[in-house]
Amino acid sequence: MANVIIVGAQWGDEGKGKVVDIYTEYANDVVRYQGGNNAGHTLVVGNEKTVLHLIPSGILHEGKRCIIGNGVVLDPKVILEEIDKLKKKGYLKNDSQLVIDANVHIIMPYHKAIDIARESNSGSRKIGTTGRGIGPTYEDKIGRRGIRFIDLLRPEIFARKVKELLPEKNFILEKMLGCAALDEQALIDEYVAYGQQLGKYLGSSSKLLNQSIKEKKNILFEGAQGSLLDVDHGTYPYVTSSSTIAGGACTGSGVGPRFIDAVVGISKAYVTRVGEGPFPTELTDEMGEKLRQAGQEFGATTGRPRRCGWFDAGALREAVRTNGLTGLAITKMDVLNDLETIKICTAYSYRGEMLEDFPQDLEVLKECKPVYEEIDGWNCELSGATSFETLPQKAQDYLRKLEQVTGCPVVLVSIGPRRSETIQIINPFN
Ligand code: GDP
Ligand code: IMO
Ligand code: MG
Repeated sequence: MANVIIVGAQWGDEGKGKVVDIYTEYANDVVRYQGGNNAGHTLVVGNEKTVLHLIPSGILHEGKRCIIGNGVVLDPKVILEEIDKLKKKGYLKNDSQLVIDANVHIIMPYHKAIDIARESNSGSRKIGTTGRGIGPTYEDKIGRRGIRFIDLLRPEIFARKVKELLPEKNFILEKMLGCAALDEQALIDEYVAYGQQLGKYLGSSSKLLNQSIKEKKNILFEGAQGSLLDVDHGTYPYVTSSSTIAGGACTGSGVGPRFIDAVVGISKAYVTRVGEGPFPTELTDEMGEKLRQAGQEFGATTGRPRRCGWFDAGALREAVRTNGLTGLAITKMDVLNDLETIKICTAYSYRGEMLEDFPQDLEVLKECKPVYEEIDGWNCELSGATSFETLPQKAQDYLRKLEQVTGCPVVLVSIGPRRSETIQIINPFN
């Protein structure tokens, strides 16, 4: 028996969806524990591409239970669309495959409106959010004025809460942000109807998962976003509003830390970032554009071009430490196929001083220049490789170098978006 957490080890979009899809084979339950539909997790099976924003990436495996844990924030309209799309493709045949925890917080229309208006009013100080209402929903959760999934299923309680909350939200929208106010009755009617369609998925994440643990079944925890977007440990304020690191898996699902056996960090063989904020190894030249095109680096949620740069070992060491990573999954190795040489950032230069650690202080980080080691590329296709040993020697050397500079073993290598383009070195469930 083993319970494994998957986390993004960079700024998101590392290929978590693909790795979760691969690891679902070994699990009974797959759980999302934080974030919302700011996430976009891509799975490619054969020639069919599926992008999931809320439903755990285990859903393409019949019979595997997918749980939306209490730590997630849920847009009911988006999940209904996602359910519909999956059913049309022939997945989610049995509704008991999907469970939504009663304590999940609901993203309300005012959360989205506030998120979008604040961003457009912030000028150069904007965060570059996905505009999905994530930050304002978590604010209300922590401020104890949130509406939870269980409330959505009880029309009278839901209507009472909306009536209590909406005057303040409309004041903020109209008087402070210059937006239109929302109509109370229309909102209540629309959301009560969503609740009626979603009620059949109600369940308790903590109870179900702890029952699985008693029965010695395996759990796979699916992180969203990435460690450097964590609200405590990331590049604050250019972060998301949840605990994206491994610790968030316990609070966001109701499972105790003693039941966690392994934590796998997903990292690209280079780095990308969407949205604003410091990114020391960013390439704004032709090489950045080459990575963007080769890796098709455009957001799965918003379609925005992703900023691209070289692998940053200091940033990865942050993720190894804050998550207690037991292994790394390195994705998108194939994107580097036709490079003569590849750079790895091993330290930073700050006002003439050499820094080994990724700076915590944003004012320092902003001014840091990467110090690179340049190593040979493999400069050929990887498509025939089926094991670590059958990768070209220089690709093996690159992976060994990543292990050395991050202090963490590589347990999986991804050489293309498809399930079949995956090399498993160590199985974290064993
Ligand atoms: P996530 O948010 O971490 O699940 O990642 P996204 O789905 O947002 O972005 C990762 C993108 O890379 C998706 O389009 C995947 O299909 C794709 N991908 C994953 N692994 C590989 C790989 O090894 N090679 C290539 N070329 N693409 C990959
Ligand atoms: P997955 O799970 C990449 C980024 C946004 C923005 C910041 C805050 O697909 O890896 P938010 O809407 O969360 O308030 O935006 O976080 N961001 C992501 N970047 N991948 C994601 O998810 C992200 N989710 C949020 O671009 O910079
Ligand atoms: Mg993504």
